[in-house]
Amino acid sequence: MAKAVSHPLFARIYPRINAFAEAHGSIEHRREMLAGAHGRVVEIGAGTGANFTHYPPEVEQVVAVEPEPRLRALAEQAATEAAVPVEVWAGRAEELPLDDDSFDVAVYSLVLCTIADVPGALTEAKRVLKPGGELRFYEHVRSERPRFFRMQRLLNPLWGLLGGGCRLTCDTERAIQEAGFTVTEIRRFDFLINGRANPASPSIIGTARLST
Ligand SMILES: C[S@@+](CC[C@H](N)C(=O)[O-])C[C@H]1O[C@@H](n2cnc3c(N)ncnc32)[C@H](O)[C@@H]1O
Repeated sequence: MAKAVSHPLFARIYPRINAFAEAHGSIEHRREMLAGAHGRVVEIGAGTGANFTHYPPEVEQVVAVEPEPRLRALAEQAATEAAVPVEVWAGRAEELPLDDDSFDVAVYSLVLCTIADVPGALTEAKRVLKPGGELRFYEHVRSERPRFFRMQRLLNPLWGLLGGGCRLTCDTERAIQEAGFTVTEIRRFDFLINGRANPASPSIIGTARLST
C-alpha cells in the first residue's frame, strides 16, 4: 500500500493559493503545458485537480495520482467536471501504482519542487511511459540570478514548512535531463504577480521526451 503524504496545513491552504495564482495567470500556464497532449495521460501529484478542465480532447483518459487525502478528495470532485475522462488514484510519485509502458504522457505541474526523491519519481515516470512517451512540466525553479537564488535558499526552510515540503531552489530542467529525458521545448519566464517577483517567480513550462 502507498505511504500517505499528509500535510494538513498545506492541504487546507493550497486551494486558496491556487485560486490566487489562477486569478493572476496560472490558468494560461496550465493550458500552455497541456496543449497537444494526447492518448493516455498520467498526472502525478494532481493536487485539487486544477488541470482537469484544461486537457485537450485528444486526451483519451487521465489517471491522476495524489497522495494527500484532503487534496485527493478535491481532485475526485474536480474529476466529475473534467473535460476528459479522469480517474483519481492514491499513490506516490516514487512508487506509481501503474503498469509499465502504459501511458503516452506524464504530467508534473508544480510538483517536482515538493517530491522528496525527484530522481526516483522520474525513474517511475520513465517506467510507466511508452517508448517515445513525453513529459509535460510546469514548475517554479531556482533563480539564475545569484542574489535572488541566495534569497530563495534562505527562505527554503520556512517555505517548506508552509508549503508541504516545497523547495524554491530546484534545478528541474537538469533533473529531467539527468533522468534520461531529452528536453525538446522549454520556456523560461518570471511568473510576476501584480507585476512583482515573488520567491517562486522563476518558472519553466516545457516538454521532454523518452527516446524510442
Ligand atoms: C503545489 S501542489 C501542486 C498540485 C497540482 N499539481 C497543481 O498543479 O496544482 C504539490 C502537490 O504535490 C503532491 N505531492 C507531494 N509529495 C508527493 C509525492 N511523493 N508523490 C506525488 N505527489 C506528491 C502534494 O500532495 C500536492 O498535491
